[in-house]
Amino acid sequence: MKMVGFIGGGRIARIMLEGWKRAGALPRAVVIFDTNSEQATRLASIAPEIRSGSPAEAASADLVIVGLHPPVLAEALPAIKGHLKPEAVLLSLAPKVTFVGLSNLLGGFSRLARQNPNAPSIVGEGYNPIAFSAGVPEAERHMLLALMVPLGDCPVVEERTIEAYALISAMGPTYLWFQFKELKRLAVEFGLTDAAARQAVAAMVNGASATLFESGLAPDDVMDLVPVKPLAADEAAIVAAYRDRLKPLFQKLTYPA
Ligand SMILES: NC(=O)c1ccc[n+]([C@@H]2O[C@H](COP(=O)([O-])OP(=O)(O)OC[C@H]3O[C@@H](n4cnc5c(N)ncnc54)[C@H](OP(=O)(O)O)[C@@H]3O)[C@@H](O)[C@H]2O)c1
Repeated sequence: MKMVGFIGGGRIARIMLEGWKRAGALPRAVVIFDTNSEQATRLASIAPEIRSGSPAEAASADLVIVGLHPPVLAEALPAIKGHLKPEAVLLSLAPKVTFVGLSNLLGGFSRLARQNPNAPSIVGEGYNPIAFSAGVPEAERHMLLALMVPLGDCPVVEERTIEAYALISAMGPTYLWFQFKELKRLAVEFGLTDAAARQAVAAMVNGASATLFESGLAPDDVMDLVPVKPLAADEAAIVAAYRDRLKPLFQKLTYPA
């Protein structure tokens, strides 16, 4: 990928750029356009390969990554469509707006991909499902997938699943991080060193996940492996919170307004 342009240089752009930098895999040239120029300048300070540029410069890259929230696309995409090179690929990181919607906003441009990356990409541990429109040739698919390798897993998925991944793997860390943070704090309060607390929580989280999904045991059998459950009385409220918060948001992302 010769040049990568970002339209929108916010959190997800930073996550990807820091992830590539950490892996020593930054694209040769990256141009960022963000309406908040301070934000673009901040990202440009990550590495010499990255610079702040105009919408035209970012949109005329070989790969144009759109890191904008869905409501902004209706205005932002028509403004850049004239700058897209015919051989470029545009990768949208936004949920809700489909290939058909993107193509309409881009005057029929059809070399489109959509992805729902997640924040662990910043340490190369992301889960970053990607969908390709029919207009993206095989060679460009391979190039895009190779670019994503340093950020973590990048399964090719059907477009209709992108919003499910938005709720589960992209927003998922936010459901858990505050709990990990509190557990680690308590571990230190209970006498572990900072390093031991971090190691214990991280190992417990990874092991708990492997036990539930890889042990071959039924979920109820897994949960019966530990008889003392201090949060048992809170479980119903926590499960209800997941359902009450996530289901309406999923509907909002998957049905037209
Ligand atoms: N963060 C994640 O972990 C994550 C994961 C998967 C997918 N995504 C998706 O990625 C998209 C961006 O998310 P984010 O977390 O990066 O949001 P963010 O941190 O709010 O970044 C968006 C950036 O775009 C700028 N902007 C707004 N309008 C613009 C325009 N017309 N042209 C150029 N820049 C513009 C914003 O500036 P102002 O702040 O000044 O408006 C902001 O700096 C969303 O669709 C989100 O669902 C995010």
